[in-house]
Amino acid sequence: MTNSPTGARLTSTHVVPDRPLASLADDVRAGLLTRPRWLSPKYFYDDHGSALFEAICATPEYYPSRSEAALLAAHGRTIIEASSPEHILELGSGSSRKTRHLLDACDVLNRPCRYWPFDVSAQMMLDAGAELVADYDWLTVHALIGDYTGGLSTVPLPEDGRRLIVFLGGTLGNFEPADALAMLEQIAALMRDDDRLLLGIDRVKDTATLEAAYDDAQGVTADFNRNVLRVLNRELEADFPVEAYRHRALFDRDNARIEMRLTADYAHRVRLAALDTAIDIDAGEEIVTEFSHKFTPDTLRALLNAAGLAMDRHFEADGGAYSLVLARRA
Ligand code: SAH
Ligand code: TRP
Repeated sequence: MTNSPTGARLTSTHVVPDRPLASLADDVRAGLLTRPRWLSPKYFYDDHGSALFEAICATPEYYPSRSEAALLAAHGRTIIEASSPEHILELGSGSSRKTRHLLDACDVLNRPCRYWPFDVSAQMMLDAGAELVADYDWLTVHALIGDYTGGLSTVPLPEDGRRLIVFLGGTLGNFEPADALAMLEQIAALMRDDDRLLLGIDRVKDTATLEAAYDDAQGVTADFNRNVLRVLNRELEADFPVEAYRHRALFDRDNARIEMRLTADYAHRVRLAALDTAIDIDAGEEIVTEFSHKFTPDTLRALLNAAGLAMDRHFEADGGAYSLVLARRA
């Protein structure tokens, strides 16, 4: 395989949204100034938040990351053989740690490809990209910096070449159902007949296992959840008393989702100087910060089908604790 200097093999581009995106200020006005209070999850991932997410993945309770890594290690070759990608586009790539199993399979099968990670967390992605081009001497990394909820039609993928679109970590489950469908439709619109989607999704299971995964004993997840308030304090010149908020993670079986909340210990007024406003928070009041939807094989298949996709292969970890699905256009 070719051997060019690493610098030439790592480039980055900002992806321009194909639709108007709400700003943090807009989202906060819409979500925090009225009840029930909620916040968009993408604001978790500043540099500190991205590092905390990596730490969540290392906690004993957060099984999804380990289950998914084990599936990729076991089936990476099968996935690469079945999809023969010339381009791997990964949404929400983070540290790209698990993606290495796919790149290892490309390596073993002598099938070089180009990797297109797409993430809002630019620093994390660029650091990961630098390590990848150093470790795989045939690899070119095109880091795509941006917000994938701004649409995928402006992603600068070349017209030619088979695509494998990778969306791991159960991140699709963080969308509300209608938004998850819209996201899958965006993905389907990028795919031709030979292209494949590799989707990692967490499964419905017993409440104790699920709630522990989102409320680890060391408190890393609690710190991650509260970090969103630090982001608001910094970006909107706000003064949330971060330590006054308790982290809660509850499984709502009717909606098949974990709901992450922050609960205020005592009543207080928060100033948001950049918005020239204030919010009065009551004692015990809650802010919903994140949903994490869990699926059954049936609900997963139905969602894919609704987006015009068909399940090709279904790999399951630990008796159905986690799913990795290879899908194609129906
Ligand atoms: N795929 C990795 C990381 C999952 S965490 C894993 O499985 O471990 C979710 C990732 O998606 C983070 O890296 C975060 O920065 C990114 N992300 C979240 N919302 C995003 C958005 N709207 N646009 C682009 N990236 C986003
Ligand atoms: N995609 C991850 C998930 O739903 C995101 C996540 C893990 C998360 N732990 C969290 C989000 C805690 C907010 C709080 O599993």
